[in-house]
Amino acid sequence: MTMINAYDPGRTAGIAAETAALIERRRRLLGPAYRLFYDNPVHLVRGEGVFLYGPNGEAYLDAYNNVASVGHCHPHVVAALARQAAILNTHTRYVTDGVLDYAERLLASLPPALGHIMFTCSGSEANDLALRIAKAATGGTGVIVTENAYHGVTDLLAQMSPSLGPAAPLGPMVRAVPAPSGDDGASFAVGVAAAIADLAAAGIRPAALLVDTIFSSDGVFADPPGFLAAAVAQIRAAGGLFIADEVQPGFGRTGAGMWGFARHGVVPDIVTMGKPMGDGHPMAAMAARPDLLARFGEKLRYFNTFGGNPVSCAAGMAVLDVIEGEGLIAAADRVGRLLKAEIRGLRPCYPMLGAVRGAGLFLGVDILDEAGEPSGVLAGRLVNALREERILISATGRLGHTLKIRPPLVFTETHADMLVQGLERAVNWVAA
Ligand SMILES: Cc1ncc(COP(=O)(O)O)c(C=O)c1O
Repeated sequence: MTMINAYDPGRTAGIAAETAALIERRRRLLGPAYRLFYDNPVHLVRGEGVFLYGPNGEAYLDAYNNVASVGHCHPHVVAALARQAAILNTHTRYVTDGVLDYAERLLASLPPALGHIMFTCSGSEANDLALRIAKAATGGTGVIVTENAYHGVTDLLAQMSPSLGPAAPLGPMVRAVPAPSGDDGASFAVGVAAAIADLAAAGIRPAALLVDTIFSSDGVFADPPGFLAAAVAQIRAAGGLFIADEVQPGFGRTGAGMWGFARHGVVPDIVTMGKPMGDGHPMAAMAARPDLLARFGEKLRYFNTFGGNPVSCAAGMAVLDVIEGEGLIAAADRVGRLLKAEIRGLRPCYPMLGAVRGAGLFLGVDILDEAGEPSGVLAGRLVNALREERILISATGRLGHTLKIRPPLVFTETHADMLVQGLERAVNWVAA
């Protein structure tokens, strides 16, 4: 991956002895392919709400982790998990009611056209299934993604995840288009049209446009709402489907309903979801139009051993309870707007801070050098300076120059103030 915010394994300065010993043990046991965040990796033992805790009780403000989206170890989710684990845990080859109750509730949050939902264990598996269905339904094989997209860990998805860098080249059927730029997002549809033409010139029929609807790894592009619609029309006109990858923006993060695509006024043909779905419990899903799934299902069966198991469904139900019961979508909108305004308020004093983008509690802040150019190096220093302030964020974008702020949705105005004050101290420290 264009490795952003990665610990350099040779580095030992400033790292606590206990943490250094664990890092060495990880290297020995887990091998070289995993990465740690930060120059000074964070050792965690516990989480609660928007805070993570180190071994000596030190608290970190979590402004980054969207998986624990309703808060770390939310008691309602923990209780639901424990209760169901003590009753029954099997799979989708038996008749159980939990999976149906959950499917009904999730489908009710999606547009009526998406009539079926299937469960997986990870976002990668959900995207893989979506692509199989899209290929079966369209007869096409071409896939269009954005130029710094990330869609998953499998061999297939690595070929559609240019953010992994040159060691994971794009597949021959894949075309990457620039993320939206400019104020109207219109460039995006232009890029998609060019990619469709390029596929056609190579004799490849498109199967799908696969897009993270908040463009997380491209640098967080949310505005203006609606710009995706023109690109969706292009892919459909060419015979392909629109797959909305909601793994990052889904479950209320954008503060405008449950799903990121809704801000764009489009109804996807297929939706994939994951990360925040179980508040940390590994679960994911794919929802599709019944006519598309029919063509796949007639010929093939699908069994995912753990996908849709009763314990996961109980966790997923509990997450939906919390999102609704605690009003987290409205809160994401309210706190996100405040955070955006407060960070924008710092800009006149700190030229290092560039554009502030995003929706709800998913913000991207561009970091600029003295010449006003995007700087991944300075963004990296800020991320590490904030870590020393015990505030956790990361960076994103092709150059790693965009701060990625994406806290659990239970982040309040008080937490937003803590983050902004920490950011101001970090900017002063990095600029000095
Ligand atoms: C947009 C997007 N899609 C898919 C995935 C893959 O999900 P998972 O890691 O659960 O397989 C990710 C993970 O980071 C993601 O960000």
